[in-house]
Amino acid sequence: MNRILITSALPYINGIKHLGNLAGSMLPADVYARFQRLSGKDVLYICATDEHGTPAELAAAAKEQSVRQYCDDQFEVQRDACAGFDLSFDYFGRSSNAPNAALTQHFAEVLEDNGLIEERVSEQVYSIDDGRFLPDRYVEGICPHCDYNKARGDQCDDCGRILDPVDLIEPRSAISGSTKLEVRETRHLFLIQSKMQDTVRDWVEAAIDWPPLARSIALKWLDEGLQDRAITRDLSWGIPVLRHGKPRPGFENKVFYVWFDAPIEYIGATQERAEATDAEWQSWWRTDQGADDVTYVQFMGKDNVAFHTVSFPITILGSQEPWKTVDKLKAFNWVTWYGGKFSTSQKRGIFMDQALELAPSDVWRWHLMANAPESSDAAFTLGHFQSVVNKDLADVLGNFVNRITRFSASKLGGRVPDGGVPGALEEKLAAQLKTRLGALTGYYEAMEFRKAMAETRAIWAAGNEYLAEAAPWTAIKTDADTAALSVRTALNLVVISAIIAQPIIPAAAGKILDAMGVPQENRKWPNAEDAGLLNALPIGLEFSQPDVLFSKITDEEIEEWGERFGAED
Ligand code: 2FM
Ligand code: ZN
Repeated sequence: MNRILITSALPYINGIKHLGNLAGSMLPADVYARFQRLSGKDVLYICATDEHGTPAELAAAAKEQSVRQYCDDQFEVQRDACAGFDLSFDYFGRSSNAPNAALTQHFAEVLEDNGLIEERVSEQVYSIDDGRFLPDRYVEGICPHCDYNKARGDQCDDCGRILDPVDLIEPRSAISGSTKLEVRETRHLFLIQSKMQDTVRDWVEAAIDWPPLARSIALKWLDEGLQDRAITRDLSWGIPVLRHGKPRPGFENKVFYVWFDAPIEYIGATQERAEATDAEWQSWWRTDQGADDVTYVQFMGKDNVAFHTVSFPITILGSQEPWKTVDKLKAFNWVTWYGGKFSTSQKRGIFMDQALELAPSDVWRWHLMANAPESSDAAFTLGHFQSVVNKDLADVLGNFVNRITRFSASKLGGRVPDGGVPGALEEKLAAQLKTRLGALTGYYEAMEFRKAMAETRAIWAAGNEYLAEAAPWTAIKTDADTAALSVRTALNLVVISAIIAQPIIPAAAGKILDAMGVPQENRKWPNAEDAGLLNALPIGLEFSQPDVLFSKITDEEIEEWGERFGAED
């Protein structure tokens, strides 16, 4: 299994994502993709913008733009922010592009042929003043349970109860505020999920490689029993509903529901890449064309799990065609802003573009991965961010690299010295490195990111501990040979430290490896059994001093950012 297909949940097109969104899917997927590439795997990391649905329509209207123009602009904005965070997508597509439309229409046709889609009439709230049907969440009113005045038609944000729009007292349109609403009949395509209950359960139960969070969410949904779901909406922006290649009668003003087409875009984006680059896509997705050899790994926040473990598999399995299904699904809890929600409208939290104005991408990447919300939600606070970054990156890694490279430049001519025979200290370090590298590699394979970050930090710290014990600055006065050996060992450890840092802090790691003169082909993931503690660098190699790697974040900066972004402490 040397080919790994990685997808991250697709960010909605409306609004740039906050740090919590980044930490829950795109960033860990990137770290994992980088680790696997360094380990010699053939990786394809796919992402895209999720462009359909009412929120995109409304955001475009608010900007007085056509939805197409709005999406075109926002796609650029999101792509740039992702590039700023060094997200190494092999392709970043758009769910509004042609391949996704053709695939979505194809899946709908075969699902209908297989008896899994049928037309049904349902009742929906229609707003006379807005001239449109309102999706449940765009009907607002008073909650019948707790009197909260801004309850949505699907759920009350105050008491958490699930609602039906008709339950609301004094309902109004969330779009215009109009109270001229009525319930009208409308015809939709329904995906008959209930028929697939057993197939999906068997498939989930056979999925031995899913981490526990994803598995438990999937089983909970199955235990509750799968409901049939409407997969079309009364909207104009979206993928048109066809039958046999022609507009489906009665569905001229309807489109597919955004959650039906969005996951199909994983395949669509791979096709977009094939069109753009001359690559092929079938061997990644069609099990009859080589995809049997692919390990498919999905990354997402916990709210997306049901769609990926139940709805999307129904599309794929229900087609009875040889499509690849997910092998490992890594889900995350939330990163919270001081324990509460990030909120654009209330200026609470930091968004991707703003973060890069404050500090380089690497420091955010490190902090978000070291505190990944794996077993529970993780609160982001600026004070914690400052202490983690200053300690781990500036004091531990930065200090280790600077100390030894500066010392050897001033005392040993900036070349890797030859030295005496490794002694007890070097043997202890080598044994520690072997154990830690083995553990680190295991944590990455298991996608246990917090543990992988802790192990990485421990390897960096071992460098400082070794230097403190070996003290080449003292030894050089009496025993030049031993001092040279310590310097050579530490310089090699600098290289190993930077190599293992590449998945997380690619810019800083690259800077160190460039300064140390390490060619690209020698930057691969180290083998725990033979990490090259004394031979990652050739003796005599000339190296330079890396520029300042990490500047410390000051108390003044934290105070200023706190005021700007609504910090709560
Ligand atoms: O929750 C979200 O942000 C969705 N846009 C995720 C879609 S994932 C996939 F299915 F496209
Ligand atoms: Zn309520």
